[in-house]
Amino acid sequence: MENQDEILILTDKYVLFRDICDLPQDRFIELDLGCGKGGFTAAMAAAFPDRIILAADIMLGRMRKVQKKVRQAGADNVRFLRTEARFLMAMCLPDQCLDRVHILCPDPWPKDRHRGHRLMSSDFFMPLNRVLKKGGIFHFATDDPEYMETVIHLTETSGLFERVSNEAIADVSGPEFRTEFEKDWIAMGKTVPHVAWRALKPEFTGMH
Ligand SMILES: C[S@@+](CC[C@H](N)C(=O)[O-])C[C@H]1O[C@@H](n2cnc3c(N)ncnc32)[C@H](O)[C@@H]1O
Repeated sequence: MENQDEILILTDKYVLFRDICDLPQDRFIELDLGCGKGGFTAAMAAAFPDRIILAADIMLGRMRKVQKKVRQAGADNVRFLRTEARFLMAMCLPDQCLDRVHILCPDPWPKDRHRGHRLMSSDFFMPLNRVLKKGGIFHFATDDPEYMETVIHLTETSGLFERVSNEAIADVSGPEFRTEFEKDWIAMGKTVPHVAWRALKPEFTGMH
């Protein structure tokens, strides 16, 4: 597949993801959703050259920064996606194509009247489960205690995930993997807890 290091602009036009981006099933595939300036993506790309990292953000300017950072690091294992997150998860990615999804320091939209802008609401967990392989990991971090509590509640009541220990994200827990936002929050004296869940794949029991 050509131009693997160009930014792929995913629009609402019908597109078969596999036609524009190769996701070999024998590779460990990570998604950094809402990757921002890409510090986490670039750190993963450099540390794990045998993995494929999908970096996705709605802002083209940010994707350009991520691309520059990754090119400077000399890594060739990142695919750059300028896309809306829910569209990517619900409409584009094939079933069970990812080993891990990272959603790190997403905008918390703390005001009541802005809650609807949040990426993670109850309808997010079905597509999240769909794109993860069986046993795939959802990794979440936020400095906002209320958002953390809400995401824990929604994930665990969805019936689609089970909480696992942070051993599942130990390989990306060192200080070199801190995101730009995480570094800022830590510099301000805040804590940024990280949590991980495993995707369950309930057996299809048929119609009764
Ligand atoms: C608070 S920043 C965090 C960036 C990065 N993960 C970090 O921790 O430094 C949230 C990022 O999510 C992106 N974003 C927000 N809503 C989005 C959406 N609906 N689809 C895709 N990206 C989105 C924003 O453009 C921004 O880069």
